[in-house]
Amino acid sequence: MSFSIEVLQEELTDVKGDVLLVCFFNEELKGGRFEEVDALVGGALSAMVSNKDFVGKKNQVSVLPSLKPTKVKRVCVIGLGDRKNITSGIYFDAMSRACIVSQRHKAVSYVVFSDVKLEKKLKSHHYAGLTTKALAMSTYHFDKYVTNKEAKLVDPVSLVFVGVDDKKQVAAGASRALSIASSANWSRDLGNHPAGDMTPKSLAEDVKRMCKGTAVKVRVLDEEKMKSLGMGAILGVSQGSVEEAQMVIMEYKGGKKDDAPIIFCGKGITFDSGGISIKPSSKMDEMKFDMLGAAAVAGGVHAIAKLGLKVNVVGVLACAENMPGSSALRPGDILTALNKKTIEVLNTDAEGRLVLADALSYVGRYKPKYVVDFATLTGACIVALGMHYAGFFTQDKNVKKVMEKATLNSGDLVWQLPLGEEYTAHIKSKVADVKNIGRRGQAGASSAAAFLQEFTDYPWGHVDMANAWSMADGPTLHCGASGFGVHLIVSLATLETL
Ligand code: BES
Ligand code: MN
Ligand code: ZN
Repeated sequence: MSFSIEVLQEELTDVKGDVLLVCFFNEELKGGRFEEVDALVGGALSAMVSNKDFVGKKNQVSVLPSLKPTKVKRVCVIGLGDRKNITSGIYFDAMSRACIVSQRHKAVSYVVFSDVKLEKKLKSHHYAGLTTKALAMSTYHFDKYVTNKEAKLVDPVSLVFVGVDDKKQVAAGASRALSIASSANWSRDLGNHPAGDMTPKSLAEDVKRMCKGTAVKVRVLDEEKMKSLGMGAILGVSQGSVEEAQMVIMEYKGGKKDDAPIIFCGKGITFDSGGISIKPSSKMDEMKFDMLGAAAVAGGVHAIAKLGLKVNVVGVLACAENMPGSSALRPGDILTALNKKTIEVLNTDAEGRLVLADALSYVGRYKPKYVVDFATLTGACIVALGMHYAGFFTQDKNVKKVMEKATLNSGDLVWQLPLGEEYTAHIKSKVADVKNIGRRGQAGASSAAAFLQEFTDYPWGHVDMANAWSMADGPTLHCGASGFGVHLIVSLATLETL
């Protein structure tokens, strides 16, 4: 997915396009800009306003046909609500809705006419970035396996900004955003593929293919290599599957040679059947998305490299398939992770923490500045937070601080949940160092985080991605993988360059 971006100085009546997007604040429906747009639709906008059919209320979107000789086919007016309450989130959501509505009208060439001085809080490059991100992320859809062309949605081809005065800033903000959003959409593609076609090996291959020609060096540890290193935890998860586990390592050196890297680890379970502790069949299909932590890390590191950020970054994707079978891990089995800790496996469905145990142990060798892992780790996190926020866990002050900034900058929302010795007590085993489940019905997301903590010896945070996918189309995103985490990872890396 990609589209061209242009910033034009033309008169509104001269620009061509399938749709012209214009935002208005609540009850601010008068003046020069309003009249200019009203003229394109022959007064239909002011008629709507006097009928109270369009009042500029937050998320209100209406599409109007425009008149000749105007060269845009239609005008989409978008409400932003009260001027005093505007945030980048509100602007982004409203714009995303408008793009999805326009896509339904088969629009592929978009023109945006918004006075960036609408609001002091939105600087030009920021405004242009949000606009571009909204178009790229909201119109993304996965229809690779649909053969009926008529049933397919259209992709945007071009985005034109008009009525802006700092052309350079707008162009720079838009192109940076498109770069990140296309990595995020690649990450969504990885997740949306069915598990039969997105095995640990094909995931590793796709990462290699995408990183060709970038400054990211990709290495893959196969099962033989993992065995010789002593990664007994990920191998335990993988032993019931005919698909070979892969530990994918992405290294990007944009910073000074000796700068400690920041590291992102991702859970890459390409299919989670639960193993011998098998899941119920309803919704089991959704477990093709159980690799979205790994996909977020892949997309994030890919984007960081494209932007050429001056920071050292490592991404580690712990990829395996969790299947039942005669060679599968059994409840009660004891595994030894890379850091030599032993794990009593009481539920083979708590497999994400096992593959991450080895990934987190492995990255210690880089002497990282900090490590954050991304994982679709627990159903309990969804129960706690719903789909709006991801759970975030850390006991490190700096990791907490950078995460708070990055979540605001990226729009990828996280909410902190508790971690500490209270929860470490839940994972004590009588026969091994730790067990892989906590107490029934109690703080499942926190005991999972406490388990991961056992494999870290550096500043560390954990993101439990409750909101990584949706099975239903939403007003701002189509169904499937959401791309959550990619922007957050880029924002974390960006903070290291400021
Ligand atoms: N991948 C799942 C968690 C999950 C399930 C995320 C559904 C999103 C939607 C994970 O591997 C898992 O099965 N976790 C178990 C842990 C339990 C056995 C301790 C869970 O949450 O039920
Ligand atoms: Mn599981
Ligand atoms: Zn899982």
